[in-house]
Formats: sequence, C-alpha cells, structure tokens
Amino acid sequence: MSLVRERPDVRSASCVHVDVWSIDLDNWQGPVLAECLAVLDSAETTRAARFTRQVDAIRFVRAHAATRLLLAHATGGHAAKLRWDRSANGKPSRVLGVEWNLSHSEGMAQLAVVPAGTGAAGVGIDVQTTALRFDASRFARRYLSPGEQRMLGERPSRGALAMAIARKEAAVKAVGLRLLDALDTDTSSSSTVVMPGTEENAARQVRIKALESQRGGAVAVAVAVASRAANPANQFTTTTRDWLLAGGGERVV
Ligand SMILES: CC(C)(COP(=O)(O)OP(=O)(O)OC[C@H]1O[C@@H](n2cnc3c(N)ncnc32)[C@H](O)[C@@H]1OP(=O)(O)O)[C@@H](O)C(=O)NCCC(=O)NCCS
Repeated sequence: MSLVRERPDVRSASCVHVDVWSIDLDNWQGPVLAECLAVLDSAETTRAARFTRQVDAIRFVRAHAATRLLLAHATGGHAAKLRWDRSANGKPSRVLGVEWNLSHSEGMAQLAVVPAGTGAAGVGIDVQTTALRFDASRFARRYLSPGEQRMLGERPSRGALAMAIARKEAAVKAVGLRLLDALDTDTSSSSTVVMPGTEENAARQVRIKALESQRGGAVAVAVAVASRAANPANQFTTTTRDWLLAGGGERVV
C-alpha cells in the first residue's frame, strides 16, 4: 500500500524512460517493521541482522521493503515472491523483465525502474548526502578522473563534489562494474560516456543525468545501452516521485 506525490511527467514515446522513486527512510510512513520484514527474503533478513547500529538495520529493512513493493507494482508480481540474482560485482539482475537499481545513503534511498522492453541494457542510480562524512577531497583524488577533478576545480562545494561522485557511481552501477574499474573514466560529460568493459559486457555506453533532489542530496541516474543498439546515444527521460503513505496523491501499490 502506498501513496505517491508526483512531479511532472516528461515521458516521450521515442526514448527510454526511467521511473525514479525517492524514499525517505527516517520520516517513514510506510508499513510497520513487521510488515516490511514479511516481504524480505532470508538473505535480506540475514543482512539486516548483521548491522551493529539499529538505525542502519531499520533503514535497510525499509529500503528493501519499499523496493519490493515498488517492483511488485511495476511487474505485477508479489513483493515477497520476487527473486533476483546478483552479478559477481553485486549488481542485482532484472525482475520479471524490469531493469532496476537501488541506492541508499543515510536516511535517503532512491530506486530507478525501467519498464520491460524499452531497450535499456541497464540502469544505475546513486544518491549522496551533501553532508559528506568522509574526506571528500581525498575521495576525489582517489576515485575521480583527472578530467572530473579539473572540472570540479581546487575547492569544490560539497554539492558539486557529491554530484560528481553520484554521476560516477550511477554510471558504474548501470553497467554493473566496480567503482575501482572506472577511476580513469570521465563521467562529467553530458553526452554518451563509454565505460570500461569486458567482452561479455556488451552494454558499455551510458547516458548520465543529474536529478533535482527534494531532500538535499545529490542524485544521478544512468542508462546503459548495448553498443550494438541502433541508436546507442539516445536520450532518456525521467519521472521522479516521492514514495509516501500520507499527504495526498495517487494510490499505486
Ligand atoms: C556499487 C558501488 C559502485 C556503489 O556503492 P555504494 O554507493 O556504496 O552503494 P549504493 O547505496 O549506491 O548502492 C547499493 C545497491 O546497489 C546495488 N549494487 C551493488 N553492487 C552493484 C554493482 N556493482 N552495480 C550495480 N548495482 C549494485 C545493490 O542493490 C545495493 O543495494 P543493497 O546493498 O542494499 O542490496 C560500489 O559499492 C562498488 O564498486 N561495488 C563493487 C564491489 C566492490 O568492489 N566493493 C568495494 C568498494 S569499491
């Protein structure tokens, strides 16, 4: 069960469309914890039990319950019965033909869902809080390419740095790589970015988009298109919705 608050739909019939769900894990108005746990599988409940801080365990359970409820809505499946595999790098596989990707940071989660049959070979999403707790300049030196670092300049704002990281991680996640695989890849470009890849990874081209976040974080989404696709550089559109249980809106699950 859920209500959503929707921002304008910019859907176009000619290109890939990504539904982005913004989930507030702390000001949670979703199902109570027992109901959330009831839709998780045993691997998820085992992972939840491993957190040392209760707040992290609760956020994890809520993020995964929301993911399952929204994927059930997108696929017509049953939340508790949805199953997916994970690649060697941890990327979850499609669910009933639907591409999806989850990101969480502190009390925020973002879920990207691409309906089946759209031509997207993968989707990646990343959210970063702008209250970066780690040494962000050190992170930039280690993980961002020389081009990305040049673009950020000597003293980037927290927001700019968080967005640079979000763009990079969204691109990495769209093709199911590891962050370490893409250290030299420049993901600051607004045109197609070619990601490093392996022979079995045909989808190496990604388009990346920075999204407006209503909750103060930096959010980026990336769509991967197989190199053999007729129009690998095509654009994609997004609709962003808040996943809420109160405040008016359309009932979707
Ligand atoms: C995936 C990665 C780029 C981003 O990680 P992050 O910012 O900490 O994580 P996010 O919150 O954005 O995303 C986590 C979710 O993405 C998904 N995910 C995990 N690995 C993924 C990958 N390689 N590609 C796409 N999606 C992935 C999972 O659903 C995960 O959610 P869960 O842990 O609750 O099941 C990073 O963890 C990475 O490089 N992983 C590869 C494995 C590895 O080398 N880890 C060591 C860290 S460099």
